[in-house]
Amino acid sequence: MLSKYILAIETSCDETSVSIIKNGYQEIATVVLSQMDIHADYGGVVPEIASRNHIQNITLVIEEVLTKANMTIEEIDAIAVTYGPGLIGSLLIGLMAAKTLSFIYCKPLVPVHHIAGHIYANNLVKPMEFPLIALVVSGGHTDLIYMKEDYNFKRIGGTLDDAVGEAYDKVARVMGLSYPGGPEIDNLAKIGEDTYSLPTPLDDDSYNFSFSGLKSAVINLIHNEEQRGNIINVPNLATSFQNRVINILTKKTMRALEEYQVKNLIVAGGVAANSGLRTKLTELCLEKHINLTIPSIKYCTDNAAMIGAAGYYAYKLDRIDNLDVNAKAVTELQ
Ligand code: KG4
Ligand code: ZN
Repeated sequence: MLSKYILAIETSCDETSVSIIKNGYQEIATVVLSQMDIHADYGGVVPEIASRNHIQNITLVIEEVLTKANMTIEEIDAIAVTYGPGLIGSLLIGLMAAKTLSFIYCKPLVPVHHIAGHIYANNLVKPMEFPLIALVVSGGHTDLIYMKEDYNFKRIGGTLDDAVGEAYDKVARVMGLSYPGGPEIDNLAKIGEDTYSLPTPLDDDSYNFSFSGLKSAVINLIHNEEQRGNIINVPNLATSFQNRVINILTKKTMRALEEYQVKNLIVAGGVAANSGLRTKLTELCLEKHINLTIPSIKYCTDNAAMIGAAGYYAYKLDRIDNLDVNAKAVTELQ
């Protein structure tokens, strides 16, 4: 089969990223320009600032990736782009850039769902084997997805309130840690001990998750201790919080694998970078003879390489759109 090169664009949040991926698994070049430092001053992403930065950077990042790959746009087979979900202003910049390239150079336009991208980040590690269960854990999602083949997503459960990354970020903020809070809590959790009594998040027969109760419990605990003039042991609180989160995520994931009789597990999204989650899943999968894939840390958080990997399969399945395709702040994975 002739090799296919996808130029992929991802601007759904605060990273301006462009990548060139060959045949859905081989990374030719990727550039990720993070705005994290800009937004850190505000304690979270400011949508208006994010889209303004994407406008300034997008053409430079496209040029840079082509230079890095030593390729011209004529050598590209299709343009893949994140159309949603995400910040609408940010998405629009990437989508407009992709439409413009598609129109000028007569290249097929392949819209990619952001979560499909996170899932296909695993294909950059090794070819995904089906059927599989995907545990999607990011700032906006906590989902368990069953896939029997490429681009066939069946959601078997998900969060009823806060996404797991969102809970990490909100708890970290109250603990006085900087944004994004997930990596901060993860680092502290390595040195702390599980000494705080915190509730177990929704532990029922479903594959749904609920982290708002745990989040509120941490926030209340901090406020109560402060009112009593007590000092919080931040590493111990980080460990206690992280253990509750990891225990429920891994418990429901392992049950899903058993019930669906699936031997392949992949993990996706920013929280897949969590060291505690990676360690516990590795141990459990070894014990249960499950074939586990987790993207390397740089492919866990937002990047265009994952959009290029997903975009290749979408392209192969003829999921090509015309220039009418719109950005969507909220959209189901399909
Ligand atoms: O996938 P992502 O980059 O953006 C979304 O699509 O949401 O995920 C970002 C989320 C943030 O909430 C961040 O705090 C969390 O991933 N995160 C982590 C870690 N690294 C990033 N959460 C826990 N532990 C980490 N090591
Ligand atoms: Zn993401």
